Formats: sequence, structure tokens, C-alpha cells
Amino acid sequence: MPKILLDCDTGIDDAMTLLYLASLVKAGAAELVAVGTVHGNIDPRSGALNTLRVLELAGVDGVPVAIGAPRPMAQDVHYALDFHGSDGLGDTGRPAPRGEPTAEAAPAQIVRLARERPGELTLLATGPLTNLGAALLLDPELPSLIREVVIMGGAFDHPGNITTHAEANIWHDPEAAELVFAAGWPVVLVPLDATHPTAVEAPWLDRLAAHDSEPARFASRILEFYIDSYAPILKRRGCVIHDALAAMLIAEPDLGTYVERPVRVELRGELTRGATIWDARTAPARDDRRPVKVMVGSDVERFQERLLASVFAL
Ligand code: BDR
Ligand code: CA
Repeated sequence: MPKILLDCDTGIDDAMTLLYLASLVKAGAAELVAVGTVHGNIDPRSGALNTLRVLELAGVDGVPVAIGAPRPMAQDVHYALDFHGSDGLGDTGRPAPRGEPTAEAAPAQIVRLARERPGELTLLATGPLTNLGAALLLDPELPSLIREVVIMGGAFDHPGNITTHAEANIWHDPEAAELVFAAGWPVVLVPLDATHPTAVEAPWLDRLAAHDSEPARFASRILEFYIDSYAPILKRRGCVIHDALAAMLIAEPDLGTYVERPVRVELRGELTRGATIWDARTAPARDDRRPVKVMVGSDVERFQERLLASVFAL
């Protein structure tokens, strides 16, 4: 059973990911060991409160939620409130959670849990990688203590979603992302190339809207806001629930098809800062960095059906 340590910036698609993970937890199919939040879609304290709200709504209690880095390592902070709403959850105005974030900082939480449970934890990152980068600086042995790192981020043949070449989670902190790709631990990366083809559309959204339960109503409401954000991009009623695809491959690795390539992050390009660059050249290998397993395609129907079923099951 996967033991997941989630690092996120909740965020509408992060919230959908929490609902999916909650369904796994309730089914006894995964353990959500803890959550850390990071700047990104919203500030990390608001992200932590949103995380607690969603977990409580889903009926999952007792998961520690730690607040993490409020800004990137080497640039100004930017939020994505226009895309996710002023509260990060589509301006749905949900009540304050019953629970409180813990006092421990998210990077310290990663290091402590990895030390307590060496080789057991899957680190799932669905936000900028500042907390992971900070944890690597706190404990250089961290890569040998983590089972696998699964990241939603990057864009290769697909255009970026912040700049022409850069995807949001990498663009928000390129220096931290570069630390993570250089660390030598096993990384699975789910870029926009894999997530965009999974966009959910009107029939899926209508089935969600027709379901009579509090989690389904909540999901439907936050996605209505997200759909408006996606209208100019997709040019049809729909949205891309990026982060849930990364979460789902942990329980179902055969959901995707992958290539293994060394990945670096552009740090200096005037037009390309935050772009992910993979080395697609064939043997002899020219980049001695440990290759990243990059998802390049997925079983779209299975992803969409599982995600819907997970919300219905709560
Ligand atoms: C990523 O950026 C955020 O806005 C989403 O939550 C997702 O993690 C997609 O580029
Ligand atoms: Ca996210």
C-alpha cells in the first residue's frame, strides 16, 4: 500500500487530488501520511487551510498539514488567484476548517518523516518544488530515504502555461526544481504533455453535477470556476485536472506511458527561464544525471472514470 507524503498548493486541481487521495485512504488503498503546503496557486497558510477543509469535507481526519515555504528560492513570489479564485478554491467561500496546521515547517516535516520511515514514503509534489529543495538542503541524505518522488510539472513538446516554454510549478521556483532533478533520487514527472489530453469535458462535468453528495457538489462548484479559467485555452467547456493524474499513477503506474530522460531546468534564459529541458539524444548518453521517468501519455478514459468514481465514493 503506498504511503504518500503530499506537498501541494491547494488550488482547485490540488483539491480534486485531495478528494481522490481521500477515497484511496477510506478504501484502505493508501496511507496519506502528511501534507505540506507551499507558495504557488496561493500563499501556503491559505493552502494549508484549504487542504484541511477538503480533507474534513472528505471525512479524512488526523492527517497533519504543515505550512511550508512562503516564497521561491531566488525570485519574487507570484500567486495564481485569477485561475484558482481569491481563496484558491474558486471563491466558494467555504467555512474555516475545524483543524489547525501543525507548528512544524513543511521541509522539516519531509526530513523527519523520511528519517522515521526510511525507504517507505512516496513524495507527491503538486505545487512548486521549494519545500522539496529546502528539504534536500536540510538533509543531503534525503534522496536515499525516499522511495519515489512523483511530480506534476514541466512541459516538453507541449507549450508552457505561464510562458511559452515554462509550466507553472517549475516556473514558480526554477532553482528548487533544478535541485530536485539533480538529486539522484527516483523521480516520475507528469508534464503538461501528459495532463492536457486528459481534460474533462461537458459529459463528465454533467455527471459530476448530477451526483447528490456534499463532496460532489463541492467538486462541481470549484470546477465551474476553473472551467471559466480554461475557456480561452480549451475553447470548449472543460478543464485540466493536472495534479490528480500524478496522484493516480502512484496507485496505478500502468495508467501511463513513459520515457526515461535526464531533465534540467533552464535558469538563465531571457525567454525560457523555468523551462524543462530533456535530453532526447540517443546513446551514448551525454548527460550523466539520473534519468527521470517522464509520463508522455495515459489511459484517459480510465483516469477520468476513476476520478469521478473516487468523488462519488466519498
Ligand atoms: C499546475 O499549476 C497549478 O496551477 C496547478 O495546481 C498544477 O499543479 C499546472 O501547471
Ligand atoms: Ca497544484
